[in-house]
Amino acid sequence: MNRRIRIGIIGTGGIARFHAEAYQKLDYADVVAVADVVPGRARQFADSLGLTEAASFDSHEELLKLDLDGVSICTPNVSHHRTAVDSLRAGKNVLLEKPMSVTLEQAVEMVQASRAADRMLTIGFQPRYDPNMKKLQEIVQSGRLGNVYYVETGGGRRRGMPGGTFIRKELAGAGAMADIGCYSLDFALNTLGHPRPLTVSAYTSAHFGRNPLYHPEASRFEVEDFGVALVRFENDLVLSFKISWAMHMDTLGATLFLGSDAGLKVTPAGTGPWSGVWDGKIGSMTLYHDDFGGHTETRVPLVEHSVNLFQAKVHDFAEAVRDGRPAPIPGEQILIQQAIIDGVLRSADQRREVSVELPPSLA
Ligand SMILES: NC(=O)c1ccc[n+]([C@@H]2O[C@H](COP(=O)([O-])OP(=O)(O)OC[C@H]3O[C@@H](n4cnc5c(N)ncnc54)[C@H](O)[C@@H]3O)[C@@H](O)[C@H]2O)c1
Repeated sequence: MNRRIRIGIIGTGGIARFHAEAYQKLDYADVVAVADVVPGRARQFADSLGLTEAASFDSHEELLKLDLDGVSICTPNVSHHRTAVDSLRAGKNVLLEKPMSVTLEQAVEMVQASRAADRMLTIGFQPRYDPNMKKLQEIVQSGRLGNVYYVETGGGRRRGMPGGTFIRKELAGAGAMADIGCYSLDFALNTLGHPRPLTVSAYTSAHFGRNPLYHPEASRFEVEDFGVALVRFENDLVLSFKISWAMHMDTLGATLFLGSDAGLKVTPAGTGPWSGVWDGKIGSMTLYHDDFGGHTETRVPLVEHSVNLFQAKVHDFAEAVRDGRPAPIPGEQILIQQAIIDGVLRSADQRREVSVELPPSLA
């Protein structure tokens, strides 16, 4: 197809630059408008990227009056809901940065807006574009592990707590669970084929965030810096999910898939102090099975690749817009992890197991 597409970018801070640069690499996409609530920031952003012809606005509402095929939403979490719903209602396709929303209700409304407007809502989880993630998904879904009954995932930074909007409950929704936990959850749920969660039993704490020894904004710290949850799913599957922004430990372990016929251990590729956290790239995959008369371990060969994961997600969105394809990572899928995080926070608050609430029409 030769159709050109017109793109707008809402929120022109840190991550927006990666979106703009990815669009600029395409010969069929033009970034024609940018918007940011800080006056003058959008103009400065466009000019710094050589987008001198792009229109700039101080509000997303003004930008949405233009004729656009799609928008990248790169605002802080708290603004995802308003900007995404307004964009969809204005008839634009949406690529929204992670995490999807601050509350489950917001995520539901976003999916409903996407359906009502018949426009795509895709959530930007770039690890999905790692060829080894696809390989892992193929192995697990091929039945090679038999009946998968237990999955353990998550990760932890020894020290790595953000500040600002990330630590305010009203603005971020959750702390480590939403910020880095969303990657681990997407990693596990996508591999498993998006099973339906039933209940959550969780514990959260903030021993580091609320301690001025460890966090300069301790008095303003309102979210969790550590969380652990046991999630029950349909088909007798359970997930143990743990995440930490800070701890006196080097790692919370690998991701494990236990099946009736085989088990799979997956480690992230990163190195350094944050290497215990799922970073989007798989470092190793080992299959544990009983063959040749005993316990056998098979190292699964990884696909050698040089895919720029971030660029791949932006390009996939652009291509889907151009070709009229469905959302590459539909809001409906990510709604499931929002429902789990919502359950984690309720369960931790009430100190008991709670049901996961997925609206029947969207489940
Ligand atoms: N996928 C990834 O790897 C990745 C990496 C970093 C951040 N993110 C996500 O991207 C989002 C933005 O993060 P960031 O680091 O770029 O933040 P940032 O603070 O650097 O930039 C956000 C920008 O949005 C603007 N803004 C706020 N509300 C707005 C509104 N209603 N309309 C228009 N502009 C508005 C702010 O003024 C700011 O310039 C967050 O949701 C974050 O979780 C994703």
